[in-house]
Amino acid sequence: QRILFVTSEIADFVKVGGLGDVSSALPRALATHHDVRVLIPAYREMIESEHQIEPVGHLAAFAGLPACDIGKITCDDGLIIYVLLCPELYQREGTPYGRGSSGYGDGQDEGWDDNDIRFARLSRAAADIALGNAGLGWQPQLLHLNDWQCGLTAGYLHWQGASVPSVFTIHNLAYQGLFDASRCEMLGIPEEAFHIEGVEFYGNLSFMKAGIVYASHVTTVSATYAQEITTPDFGCGLDGLLRCKAEAEQLCGIPNGIDDSWDPRTDIHLAQAFSYNDWRGKRVNADYARRHFGLAAGQGPLFAVVSRLVHQKGLDLTIEAAKTIVHAGGQIIFMGSGEHHVEEALRKLAARFPGAIAAYIGFDEYQARCLFAGSDFLLMPSRFEPCGLSQMYAQRFGSLPIAYRTGGLADTIEDGVTGFLFNDMEFSSYMKSIQRAFTVFKSTELFNAMRGAAMMGRYHWRQSIEPYNRLYQQVLEKQGEKTQ
Ligand code: ADP
Ligand code: GLC
Repeated sequence: QRILFVTSEIADFVKVGGLGDVSSALPRALATHHDVRVLIPAYREMIESEHQIEPVGHLAAFAGLPACDIGKITCDDGLIIYVLLCPELYQREGTPYGRGSSGYGDGQDEGWDDNDIRFARLSRAAADIALGNAGLGWQPQLLHLNDWQCGLTAGYLHWQGASVPSVFTIHNLAYQGLFDASRCEMLGIPEEAFHIEGVEFYGNLSFMKAGIVYASHVTTVSATYAQEITTPDFGCGLDGLLRCKAEAEQLCGIPNGIDDSWDPRTDIHLAQAFSYNDWRGKRVNADYARRHFGLAAGQGPLFAVVSRLVHQKGLDLTIEAAKTIVHAGGQIIFMGSGEHHVEEALRKLAARFPGAIAAYIGFDEYQARCLFAGSDFLLMPSRFEPCGLSQMYAQRFGSLPIAYRTGGLADTIEDGVTGFLFNDMEFSSYMKSIQRAFTVFKSTELFNAMRGAAMMGRYHWRQSIEPYNRLYQQVLEKQGEKTQ
């Protein structure tokens, strides 16, 4: 099948978090069965990259959305990426969503003021390509849309009465793309669509809701999160709608995976490659991480945090736990960027415990790998986690995650076997799981058994391909029945 995978970030060029990893890995994994091509805005990172951008198409202006060109990048492995060339919208200093934004730019964090136009432009482009209006000479049979940034695509198709089917994947329901209702006209959203069964959400316009309402099928990135978002606690106000979708069998969870580059036996970025049972090799990576991040040499457990520094990730709990961890002989290395007050708190913490706590504010893909490889435990007390990739990376590299039993964390960590899960989103509950980690660390036999089990975990994308194949097939068949 011909599939257009529409996304707002891709790790090949630019990423803010896990969506970028997924957008790079999933289309490639699907390529064994389908002709999958990616559509994404041409950010500065693409323009400045050494990749050639071949002009292949053009899109007319629509309502308040400017006209733009479409370029084509062919990656070394053959993946085709269509980029939306519109310098005034996309070629900026900053992340895909804002000047220094660590969130997904939906107007609630430090997003660009024109994010509605920027991502409506992306959504409209996807719809136009699907309708054959872009001059590409290639038309998808199905659209795979990701998160609020692409939500309007399904709406644009619906409002035109087009029958191209779409799958809408929710990577994070907390970022919804909410904008003022007065923007609808500029974005070419028909007035009739602004009601409770359309794009209206408590008086605002919601891109996320457009995706959920108008796509043929909604997925999210783990089975547990698919269930959680139908409850008021995790549904972010959309649980009622999502319950209806679930009842109509139009909502399911398909877990993310990790790709082959995450292999400690072959990863050239590590201080030393190592495999299952080679704990001496892992130790070399621990020593390297301590040295590199400026910690004292040590024999105690080394904890790592690799995370966007936002409320979701529960950093406040780890900051509170830090003193106890250090007093018990542990060390912690933080890597990440995000909310300024969290960055500041981490800097202060590192200054207070020199040699025991390090804070790298920023993100470095290769050093992140060294951290997964060097650490004994990964601290990830997320309040909610649609899937989470860091805990899978950590396990693959023999670092045991300590996490709250929620979403994808509950589905990918086996408590007491490949990591530690705590059941209540409370400090005392988190602290108990950290204490369990200290206890395990002291028993070499148990610790090694757990690390071994974690490294053997099966989280490859191959496992997600079958469910996606079945879903695409089902969605296409249903559409076929409708149009007959
Ligand atoms: P999320 O997508 O919510 O951030 P995931 O665990 O799914 O959580 O994915 C995190 C991915 O983003 C990992 O590849 C991680 O290494 C990376 N990452 C973490 N912090 C940052 C950051 N500040 N900037 C860029 N990437 C980051
Ligand atoms: C989101 C979620 C994360 C998920 C990622 C990729 O950013 O927060 O849990 O792994 O998307 O799907």
